[in-house]
Amino acid sequence: MAETNPTLDGTPENAPGLDGAFLRTQGVSKSFHGRPVLKEADFAIGSGEIAVLVGKSGSGKSTLLRVIAGLEEPDAGDIHLAGQAVVQGGEYQGAWKDLHGQIGMIFQSYTLWPHMNVLDNLTIAPRLTLGESRAQLLERAEKALTEVGMAQHLRSRCTQLSGGERQRVAIARALMMRPRLLLCDEITSALDPPVAAEVLGVLTKLKEEEGIACVIVTHDMAFASKAADRICFFEDGLIKEDVPPEHAFNDPQTPGLRAFIDAIRF
Ligand SMILES: Nc1ncnc2c1ncn2[C@@H]1O[C@H](COP(=O)(O)OP(=O)(O)OP(=O)(O)O)[C@@H](O)[C@H]1O
Ligand SMILES: [Mg+2]
Repeated sequence: MAETNPTLDGTPENAPGLDGAFLRTQGVSKSFHGRPVLKEADFAIGSGEIAVLVGKSGSGKSTLLRVIAGLEEPDAGDIHLAGQAVVQGGEYQGAWKDLHGQIGMIFQSYTLWPHMNVLDNLTIAPRLTLGESRAQLLERAEKALTEVGMAQHLRSRCTQLSGGERQRVAIARALMMRPRLLLCDEITSALDPPVAAEVLGVLTKLKEEEGIACVIVTHDMAFASKAADRICFFEDGLIKEDVPPEHAFNDPQTPGLRAFIDAIRF
């Protein structure tokens, strides 16, 4: 058997031959206007894992998440999801259509529809795409809101919610599509530290209770040191170091990560 990373196996979706990773990118490249931003980036995450991406501004973190989410087409490289090739040689494969629903993405700025209440925000996409009944969707919305501690806000107007509450609703909305992987791009950057800690705590709970994998771009190093299974240090369009947090903080191997840790030491 191939040598496996012990943090990357253990669930039924994990396929043999991919070292058990739920998602794996291999050699993913992307240029904008002839300038390479991702340079053959390799990344993998297993079910029930939290990987925190760190690195300087402009190093390509958001671009990698956007490529994984299908919001940006890679120029080259392969992506495997749930054991199937969804991108090969930079081209989307048929399996992408069936599997992309397993990926949810949440952004920094509030992406809720302000004129709708919480329930409508949660149900609009699944109503249009999954064809489920109102009763089924209501039940699922209640469950998703309970998971993020927002059950009492089912009928609240989004404009009346605080920043932290909105981000928890944004997570609940992503959960409505039953993702197995959540991509979170600086979702707490606009929040006060205690509120940010609560929102990020929701992700830890989802990982532990539902086995959802989370790739999180955050500057919250207190969270990263406590909750991440791995810290992935991004530099010049690829991951230069991929290690458990204790290694990243106490024994960084690359000069870039060493400088980064020194600069943000908390
Ligand atoms: N759609 C686009 N068109 C042109 N250039 C882009 C586009 N998206 C990203 N870039 C460029 O690619 C580089 C990497 O951007 P990216 O947003 O991935 O960095 P980042 O690591 O997320 O940075 P930050 O920490 O500031 O969010 C930047 O120089 C950015 O200007
Ligand atoms: Mg970014």
